[in-house]
Amino acid sequence: MEKYKVIMDVDTGTDDAVALLMAMASDQIDLLGVCSVNGNRNIELTTDNTLRVIDFVGKGDEVKVYKGCALPLVSTLNKDRRPLIPYGDKYFDGQENHGNHLDLPETQLKPQEKCAVSYYIDTLMASEGDITLIAVGPLTNIACAMRAEPRICGKIKEMIIMGASLEEGNSGPSQRAEFNFWADPEAAEIVLQSGCKITLVPLDVTHKTCIHMDEALAFEASGTKAGYAAATFIKRRIGNYETWSKNWHVDEAGAPIHDALCVAGLLDRSVFTEIVSCNMKMDISGGTADGVSLVNFKDMSRDLDGIFRPAVKNVNLVMKADREKFAKIMGDLVTK
Ligand code: BDR
Ligand code: CA
Repeated sequence: MEKYKVIMDVDTGTDDAVALLMAMASDQIDLLGVCSVNGNRNIELTTDNTLRVIDFVGKGDEVKVYKGCALPLVSTLNKDRRPLIPYGDKYFDGQENHGNHLDLPETQLKPQEKCAVSYYIDTLMASEGDITLIAVGPLTNIACAMRAEPRICGKIKEMIIMGASLEEGNSGPSQRAEFNFWADPEAAEIVLQSGCKITLVPLDVTHKTCIHMDEALAFEASGTKAGYAAATFIKRRIGNYETWSKNWHVDEAGAPIHDALCVAGLLDRSVFTEIVSCNMKMDISGGTADGVSLVNFKDMSRDLDGIFRPAVKNVNLVMKADREKFAKIMGDLVTK
């Protein structure tokens, strides 16, 4: 069986953690490396959380972590644009999906000396164009690497990205943006316009593919470490969606485990039941819609010169996914 060569980019985070558990458990994935990035928490916490997950399932000798960017590219330079980033210990109020440290034992594992941006450039440039990136945090590391060595864009087989929202968002003053893209909109725009093959899993879809409490309990009952850890994170998220996040239109029996859907979709593309090729741009204006992803489903676009041109279909946008199949893939991996 040929394996997918994968690099993951994570801001771990409870749902990133489940995605990692699935990737590490899969026989179909050769996990070349994991890059941490500022996002759900500051870079020290997301890196430590990533290492905790890897250590907990005994993969510390196999799976290497490369510490990534501590801040978005530019969005924090204007103090009003992203006042709470980076999220640190002080932000945590107990009513939240992630916490500061994940509910896992402390780890002695350390990240590699090489930073994530150098790791991307070195690994992709030495590759044969056969590496898939699963990016489930702000896209700062990847955008930096693309700016420093644009030739890596021709070396990426595919990027499966959790990001963007079509209608319902979870970030920004209007709650119209999605967190990963909102946190570093310039980075998202660089990646979107990179010419790479992008499969994009938006919030609208992850909100409709929740994992349920009975499924989490079954993961836990399996007695595996991955099942225990996944259940711990999913239960926390379900509890939180019942209270703090109750305004979001998620399936009440569960909670979205956004990032894990990207791993399931890599392993079985039929999890994505509807995909539309379209054009996407970011609003990076700093105004009310700052960080919102703008989709053009038409075949034409019209630039400021007034001329109609064929729209560049830069993303394969996932519109629907199969919840049952997703839950089954997750369960099969974390309970084995
Ligand atoms: C995304 O934001 C983060 O909080 C999650 O880990 C996920 O990647 C959802 O908007
Ligand atoms: Ca994430």
